[in-house]
Amino acid sequence: MLDINDYELANPNAASLIQSLRAFGYDISTAVADLIDNSITANASDISISFDWNSGAPFISIADDGYGMTETELFEAMKTGSKNPLDTRDERDLGRFGLGLKTASFSQCKRLTVASKTNDSSINVRCWDLDIVNETNEWILLKKVTNTANRIIDDVFSDRKHGTVVIWEKLDKIVPDECVDDEDYQKAFLNYAKQVKNHISLVFSSYMKGSKRVLFKLNNRAVDLWDPFMSDCTFTSLQPSETLYINGHEVTIKPYILPHQSKISTEDFALYGGLHGWNEQQGFYIYRNNRLIVAGAWLLPDMEKKEQYRLARIRIDIGNETDSEWGIDVRKSIAIPPIPIQKELRRIAVVAQKESAKVYRHRGKKLARNSSKIQAYVWQQNLRSGKICYSINREHPIIKQLLSSSNKKEVAKLIDLIEETVPVPMIISDYSEKSDEMLNPFEGRTTNQFDDMIDALYEMYRSNGYSPQEAVKNIASTEPYIYAPEKVQLFCEREGIDVYE
Ligand SMILES: Nc1ncnc2c1ncn2[C@@H]1O[C@H](COP(=O)(O)OP(=O)(O)O)[C@@H](O)[C@H]1O
Ligand SMILES: [Mg+2]
Repeated sequence: MLDINDYELANPNAASLIQSLRAFGYDISTAVADLIDNSITANASDISISFDWNSGAPFISIADDGYGMTETELFEAMKTGSKNPLDTRDERDLGRFGLGLKTASFSQCKRLTVASKTNDSSINVRCWDLDIVNETNEWILLKKVTNTANRIIDDVFSDRKHGTVVIWEKLDKIVPDECVDDEDYQKAFLNYAKQVKNHISLVFSSYMKGSKRVLFKLNNRAVDLWDPFMSDCTFTSLQPSETLYINGHEVTIKPYILPHQSKISTEDFALYGGLHGWNEQQGFYIYRNNRLIVAGAWLLPDMEKKEQYRLARIRIDIGNETDSEWGIDVRKSIAIPPIPIQKELRRIAVVAQKESAKVYRHRGKKLARNSSKIQAYVWQQNLRSGKICYSINREHPIIKQLLSSSNKKEVAKLIDLIEETVPVPMIISDYSEKSDEMLNPFEGRTTNQFDDMIDALYEMYRSNGYSPQEAVKNIASTEPYIYAPEKVQLFCEREGIDVYE
């Protein structure tokens, strides 16, 4: 037993702690998703989100038809740290830290109202107002709510026996008080609604299908699912699934290779590139209890996104028993593959990446085989005074153009300088000792770095009288595109040039 003289109580300071709870790093989408998690855990089948400008007193509400909370449960739920993160959770539970409801809400607003009802209880309401906690420095949980909140609550419970509605008012992080008359803020508010809708389509897509599907609505319109794996498309290939184990718990892995751009419509190409484009969407997608935590990242040390891997998207399914091994954070936006399975994941990722590169390059290869006979290389081997030297091909179209520009004298000097200083011994030594550590053409470059050059080459060949088809075939046999015909293929697709017509 502790002796009363051996300790003192150091309760947190309400005003400052509640401010710190605002800074967990949520954005509007991850914050709403955290509330949706609670609704799903409560077995909801209908989740309606509203973004209402409400004539300059904006609010956001999330209503569900889950099993709801009794008054005691609601009181517990409103406390921070309402559950111990170390407790074992029901296998369908999407929560962990007993914080989400509060931290997600306070990240966006200063006034959080929750009304809930179970089959057997009446409607109970509780409300945190951070201004009041701040002024009083006490954990004052209100039982009285605003007229707006009351109106929403009446509306939600007019036709249901159980459920919960969460209401965010005083949205100071979204619309500062002084900006409620500002049209730009009003527009931004509605844009946030769009952003949230896209996030829900992705994160909860697994809940939007099957017999027990959940209906999601945003401002009264159904939210459609967005399947990152294009699993309904006949050209998507599902590679063999694998099961790994973490402390006896299953981790299932399904690698998908998505179709080449040429196999799908322009609309699907735009749609499945997602918000950040095809290159960004490659990688692992980690689902915890069917809820997406990470969307498109390779997550393993030294594994980078590359253009040719962009068709590889790998679904990983985990449960909620291994949260600490995966480093799941309060926001549920981070997961780090546990070390014991990293090697296996790397193996699976590398196979998927190679498959992606194969599909991605396939059409490019055809183009390469059909490329013209021009073969414009940059470097040539020459003899000077009977000895070997390396020189730059003045006939390469890019060099040729530079040599006819107004800077031609400087360009000629630069070429001389480069030719006289080619580091042949260094290259020989590096190549013989560590050839596999040397970069191949285009490797390690950001994707769009060469787009300007391909445009320039196209213009040059066209202005020299070549047809569009001949021009692109020439590009495919011009360095550096000899090594990346798929880039020329993409250019053709973008410009609508059919090489084989
Ligand atoms: N929409 C809801 N329906 C029913 N219960 C809820 C709802 N939202 C929150 N709760 C209850 O409040 C508790 C605390 O929620 P939260 O702070 O998000 O932490 P966690 O989800 O980690 O438990 C939940 O465990 C749940 O019991
Ligand atoms: Mg939660």
